[in-house]
Amino acid sequence: MVLQKNLNPGYYRDNERLEEESTMSNSTLGLDDRLQQYVLDVSLQEPEACARLREQTLAMPDANMISSPEQVQLLKLLFKMLGARNGLEIGTFTGYTSLRLTMAMPGLRMTCCDLSEEYTAIAREHWRAANVDDRIDLQLGPAQQTLDRLIDEGFEGAYDFAYIDADKAGYRSYVESCLALVRNGGLITLDNVLWGGSVADPEDNSEDTVALRELNLWLHQRAPGRFDLSLVPIGDGLTILRKYY
Ligand SMILES: C[S@@+](CC[C@H](N)C(=O)[O-])C[C@H]1O[C@@H](n2cnc3c(N)ncnc32)[C@H](O)[C@@H]1O
Repeated sequence: MVLQKNLNPGYYRDNERLEEESTMSNSTLGLDDRLQQYVLDVSLQEPEACARLREQTLAMPDANMISSPEQVQLLKLLFKMLGARNGLEIGTFTGYTSLRLTMAMPGLRMTCCDLSEEYTAIAREHWRAANVDDRIDLQLGPAQQTLDRLIDEGFEGAYDFAYIDADKAGYRSYVESCLALVRNGGLITLDNVLWGGSVADPEDNSEDTVALRELNLWLHQRAPGRFDLSLVPIGDGLTILRKYY
């Protein structure tokens, strides 16, 4: 009740609602559409060029694959704090994340992996228009082959961060490769780890759900002594690992 003075009354209809909210301070809110929009209204810092790409992507049949803008904003903040110079993205799609990150960090170079010429043609167009294309190296082909090649070519420890956002069955192997490619103290981030909530549903045993459920367990068991771990319920669930060694 004390907090009421600091809150915009428009977001709290009555005391009952406030009581309900105030009992939830030790857990994470599920956001309904209105609260989701509020979060964006009061926090999104998205350059016009990125907003245009997001709008174009949202009109596509596979629009749901784009990373959520508030999640990319969190990544941007974290990677900026790292002073990142070299980043790796596994699953690039239409290039929204890579565009936002390279626009926000003029010293950043990115290696982007994807299978699809069609999706990444859109990415290339927007990277070029924003003059960041010379800092993005797009590697077309199965991501695991690209990661293996980078390791063979001596890029172990060369990256400050990795963002894993491609086929779910490949995540575990991508994490193993990223643990080699990312430097000590660097970040490995993984999108979709809550998979629409299905990972917590014992009845759902579809291939991607099982892969992500097993991955989450494996990361949790593997973390002690190797990396810091946080599963942030933003977007579709974002796991952040900070590599010790
Ligand atoms: C969820 S989207 C990535 C979204 C992107 N990170 C963004 O910021 O909007 C997944 C992408 O992974 C790509 N992909 C799927 N399997 C792949 C694989 N084995 N190797 C490389 N890319 C893959 C798809 O073509 C698709 O563009």
